[in-house]
Amino acid sequence: MRILITGGAGYIGSVLTPTLLSLGHQVTVLDSFYFRQNSLMDCCQHADFQIVRGDCRDEALMKKLIAQADVIIPLAALVGVPLCNTDAIATQTTNQQAIEMLCRLASPQQWVLMPVTNSGYGIGEKGKFCTEETPLRPISTYGITKVKAEEAVLSRANSISFRLATVFGASPRMRLDLLVNDFVHRAVHDRAVLIFEGHFKRNYIHIRDVVRVFAHGLANFEKMKGKPYNVGLDDANLSKLELCAVIKKHLPKFVYVEAPIGEDPDKRDYVVSNARIAGTGFQPEWGLDRGIGELIKVYTILRNSIYSNV
Ligand SMILES: NC(=O)c1ccc[n+]([C@@H]2O[C@H](COP(=O)([O-])OP(=O)(O)OC[C@H]3O[C@@H](n4cnc5c(N)ncnc54)[C@H](O)[C@@H]3O)[C@@H](O)[C@H]2O)c1
Repeated sequence: MRILITGGAGYIGSVLTPTLLSLGHQVTVLDSFYFRQNSLMDCCQHADFQIVRGDCRDEALMKKLIAQADVIIPLAALVGVPLCNTDAIATQTTNQQAIEMLCRLASPQQWVLMPVTNSGYGIGEKGKFCTEETPLRPISTYGITKVKAEEAVLSRANSISFRLATVFGASPRMRLDLLVNDFVHRAVHDRAVLIFEGHFKRNYIHIRDVVRVFAHGLANFEKMKGKPYNVGLDDANLSKLELCAVIKKHLPKFVYVEAPIGEDPDKRDYVVSNARIAGTGFQPEWGLDRGIGELIKVYTILRNSIYSNV
């Protein structure tokens, strides 16, 4: 199929793009290269790969690119609460209005597969199992704009939304600001982490399983369309302290301490059911242990040490 991926040079897109090419699809990536990343260099040799440097909010450009696609995967966004808080207007226009525009420009026959965050579920819902029917109550600009974007996508024909848990694992455009990636990075290089509100439960999914779920959505589109799907690991609804205990199995010198005072501005505390996506025949292949093993190798390569002699 002819697939347009916006934000395809990001953390998820840099693993998704080569995978979709290897499955025989024609892939066009539109990206602004916000992080000056070179993560798609390996794709450029591919005859079925096209790259466009541009902005997903540019209506004339999007109209032209959408017209050439069978499928659109809109990954372009300002991602995560801290980044969104630096520019509320860019967050609104990129995460929400660009998606509403995309839904207006696409014909009803074109397929849209959209990732959103499940982080709006559990604010103040301690211990509650969240399904796709649980109301989303996002509080951050990031969460609010992603929920609005999902509403726009699911109100058109031929769309799927994936409500992703916190993603972990290696990508050529690496992100150290994601919880598992961050804790393993600290465990490898600092050997210690200070935790706020360590009993808050979170859920996780490996980046390769995120890529697999997009491929699964493409292969099973007719039976899956029109709905949101939670995508996370059933056996990793873990608190931050439990996550640290798993990391310590791999890195025995790792020390983690819960702060007696202070709070985490991120109030997520919830457990998520992935029964709906499992019912379509999808099962993740990457557990936390496998992903932590991968990350330890990654951090043997990556070191944030440009202002240090060692
Ligand atoms: N990583 C996660 O844990 C996670 C969880 C849930 C949902 N998601 C969603 O998945 C998508 C991708 O996330 P990611 O982790 O790869 O983030 P990322 O920040 O690595 O990727 C975002 C990409 O969008 C591009 N971009 C930003 N503004 C743009 C614009 N105006 N026009 C064109 N390109 C632009 C950036 O250059 C970057 O390549 C996002 O929509 C995000 O909300 C991610």
